[in-house]
Amino acid sequence: MKIHIKTFGCQMNKHDSEAVVGLLMEHGYEITENRNDANVFLVNTCSVRKHAEDKVYSMLGELRKLKKKKNRIDSIVGVMGCMAQKDKNGIFKRAPNVDFVCGTHNFHKIPEIIKSAIEQKTKINLTDMDKQVFVSPTLSSRENKSAAWVSIMRGCNNFCSYCIVPYVRGREVSRPSKDIIREIKELVHAGYKEITLLGQNVNSYGKGLNKNIDFSDLLELVHEIKDIERIQFVTSHPKDISLKLINALANLEKVSRYLHFPLQSGSDKILRLMNRGYTLSQYLDIVNKLRKRIPDIRLGTDIIVGFPGEKEEDFDQTCQTMKEIEFAQAYMFKYSPRDGTTAFKLKDDVTPQVKKDRLNKIINLQKLVSQKKKK
Ligand code: 5AD
Ligand code: SF4
Repeated sequence: MKIHIKTFGCQMNKHDSEAVVGLLMEHGYEITENRNDANVFLVNTCSVRKHAEDKVYSMLGELRKLKKKKNRIDSIVGVMGCMAQKDKNGIFKRAPNVDFVCGTHNFHKIPEIIKSAIEQKTKINLTDMDKQVFVSPTLSSRENKSAAWVSIMRGCNNFCSYCIVPYVRGREVSRPSKDIIREIKELVHAGYKEITLLGQNVNSYGKGLNKNIDFSDLLELVHEIKDIERIQFVTSHPKDISLKLINALANLEKVSRYLHFPLQSGSDKILRLMNRGYTLSQYLDIVNKLRKRIPDIRLGTDIIVGFPGEKEEDFDQTCQTMKEIEFAQAYMFKYSPRDGTTAFKLKDDVTPQVKKDRLNKIINLQKLVSQKKKK
């Protein structure tokens, strides 16, 4: 049996796909890059913006044609990840060629689900969210052979008002540090030099664990592992950046001098509506402390334009802040209403044209900033 997997979305999704590929290989499946060649199509999905979902549904439409053309009635189509979790049975209605949906807490069961889908020929929906499960890739299923992702937590408790993640990835659960360290030591033993610690909100690591440990402590433990040359991590929430973490970043020389901690907006009014838990001046205070302690630190952000209620002056404040901070890297998005989030109840009152104009404007602004920084 050959499996083709297509992944949409963030690094967490790419890492989940690596883990699922590892499991499937252990169960004797072969992975193929050529979807025409596959018996099973797996799509790992993203729900963060509508655009990401539209891409998945359009791909599922293409698969239907492929299925018909090849007359391969035995070819199985599975949808996994955030959209599977969000839309559940609804996926079968919109894409009747889909055979199974597997939510974010059930990846470890994928080999079993595929087997049942082949044998039973009935549609399968596995989307309970009882327990966060950590599945690691195998050495051969890892995409990058010198830099490795290691998951340290799953889910998110922040409930930013626009964001679907806490609903589809569930509540935040930290992984025991001994499991993380064991995995990293195995990776180092296999020759990996660069590790990226992954989580939706890595700097709140440690809550709910038996051991009293926070993210700075974890960084120190990882730093002690011999033969690691570089440690990175994503993503951090501004409200959880402590002085202890800033000191750890300053002192641990193998930790990359790059911090991605999304600002989202430069307007206090919008930050409040977004439920971000900080004001612009608190954010700027962290930036100042970071730069004072670590002068060569590079900063990265995510920005959403066109959030409900965003007036020209709010947007201007975001632009001003971007100019002032001079981020080394910025990912910028138009607000996309997500059903089920609290912001969905707010009137999406910024017109599509204004969202588009603001996005273009801020992308151009950031281009100038990064050109200036490169000089
Ligand atoms: N609309 C637009 N962008 C969003 N993000 C999260 N939810 C939405 C949404 N509904 C962005 C945020 C987040 C990044 C991963 O995606 O900027 O930091
Ligand atoms: Fe979404 Fe906010 Fe959690 Fe990031 S911190 S995943 S934006 S809810």
